[in-house]
Amino acid sequence: MPKMTFIERDGTRREVDAPLGLSVMEIAHLRGVDLEGACEGSLACSTCHVIVDPDDLERLNEPSEDEEDMLDLAFGLTETSRLGCQIIMTEELDGLTVRLPPDTRDARNG
Ligand code: FES
Repeated sequence: MPKMTFIERDGTRREVDAPLGLSVMEIAHLRGVDLEGACEGSLACSTCHVIVDPDDLERLNEPSEDEEDMLDLAFGLTETSRLGCQIIMTEELDGLTVRLPPDTRDARNG
C-alpha cells in the first residue's frame, strides 16, 4: 500500500498508509488527521485545502477549473495549494507529502 505524509499545523509529520483510490481528504479522515471536508468532495467548499510539497507537485494531475475556482476562496492559498478531495491516491503518488494550511479559526485581523 502506498504511504503519504501529512504535516500538521504544529509541524508534526505523520506518515500514514494511503489506500489506493481514496482521496487525500478521505485518507486524512481515515487516519484522524484534522482536515475538514465540509462538502465531502463535491467541489463546493475549500475546507479540504492542502499545500502540496513542491517536489511532489509535478506528479499530480492539473487541477480542474472548478477546483481552481474553489481554491481561490481558500484561506492561506499558496502556489502549490490543492483541494485534498481532488487528489486520488495511486501507486505513482507513493510518498506524497502535503501540509495542512494555517487554521482559519485562528486567523485574526487577516
Ligand atoms: S471537501 Fe469540499 S471541495 Fe473538497
